[in-house]
Amino acid sequence: MANETVSPTDAWKQALATRKTQVADAAAVPAAAVTPLDQDVSRRNFIRASFWGGLGVTLLGSVGLLLDYLYPRNVKGFGAPVPAGNVKDFVKGAEPKAFSEGQFWLANLDPAETRAGGSGGAAGLLALWRKCPHLGCTVPWRQSFDYEGDKGWYRCPCHGSTYTKAGIRVYGPAPRSMDTMAITVDASGNITVDTGKITKGGPDNPTRAVKAPGLPT
Ligand code: FES
Repeated sequence: MANETVSPTDAWKQALATRKTQVADAAAVPAAAVTPLDQDVSRRNFIRASFWGGLGVTLLGSVGLLLDYLYPRNVKGFGAPVPAGNVKDFVKGAEPKAFSEGQFWLANLDPAETRAGGSGGAAGLLALWRKCPHLGCTVPWRQSFDYEGDKGWYRCPCHGSTYTKAGIRVYGPAPRSMDTMAITVDASGNITVDTGKITKGGPDNPTRAVKAPGLPT
């Protein structure tokens, strides 16, 4: 066997020729398969998806903040339960007391107050919304107001609607009697008027009066 001498250059050529760095023809992606147009469309889709995704997240965040802002927390005053003193503070048959915070009048009605502007037979606490059912004016209690020879009425200053101590309409353009509010009394006699629970006034106003232990009778 003749001794063949391989030069360093030839040895490199042989080594490079045997390297398997080429992709098989079947697996290779044809150069024409991925065009610049495809790349452009795919980029556009990506940008569009990013835009709408970002907008959606921003809108959701804004709606969440708005709902959080509107959610009622620690609601006080009108529209919520309002403390109205203790039962022992309400003398039976006395003039109604005004509660500006809750926009109501509160009285301990005496069933024996049978005069025309009296209790209408009601016995106990009755809370009346001071807003006139006609056009919304504030209705004051007027102890000295005389209507048909009887003194002591609710009398609206706007158009003259007149109501008994139980809020029953007896005169004027108001379409109904004064509205009433829900009352609760706890075990210690503390009164709460729920100004968010309003019932339209009617001839049954006297039956809505609330009796409670400790209420002066
Ligand atoms: S608003 Fe009270 S009578 Fe008109």
